[in-house]
Amino acid sequence: MERTFAIIKPDAFAAGNAGKIIARIYAEGFKVVGLKKLYLSKVEAEGFYYVHKERPFFGELTEFMSSGPCVVMALEAEGAIAKWRDLMGATNPAEAVEGTLRREFGSNIGENATHGSDAPETAAFELSYFFSGLELL
Ligand code: RTP
Ligand code: MG
Repeated sequence: MERTFAIIKPDAFAAGNAGKIIARIYAEGFKVVGLKKLYLSKVEAEGFYYVHKERPFFGELTEFMSSGPCVVMALEAEGAIAKWRDLMGATNPAEAVEGTLRREFGSNIGENATHGSDAPETAAFELSYFFSGLELL
């Protein structure tokens, strides 16, 4: 079993799509090991996305991620990291395959409804950024 870290981003939360996304997560066979609603500060969003700090979209991204509440989750499944990225679809909703979450709920390349860890090392960092061990029992 593998764990990954996921976010229902502020656009999807504000649009009232958190429930539909969580229902889909269960339907696809993930176990929800951790789940909470948070309203990130700019500094907290910058710390989370520090790998992108040199990218041109860093300011826009961290403004967006701190623009409203989001839902953070720890998801468990066989091959959870790849499985969750497959379910999310491509970063740009316009390029995401039919049936993926970003295709259904994303608006544009920045406001794309969900986040998912991209490798075991990033999953470990991201899970520990938001959850203590006791929260994932
Ligand atoms: P994420 O980290 O959120 O799961 O998304 P990802 O791996 O598919 O994409 P990544 O390259 O890691 O980019 C992180 C987030 O930054 C925003 N972005 N904006 N304006 C742009 O060109 C641009 N490119 C990326 C998106 O919100 C993307 O999910
Ligand atoms: Mg990424």
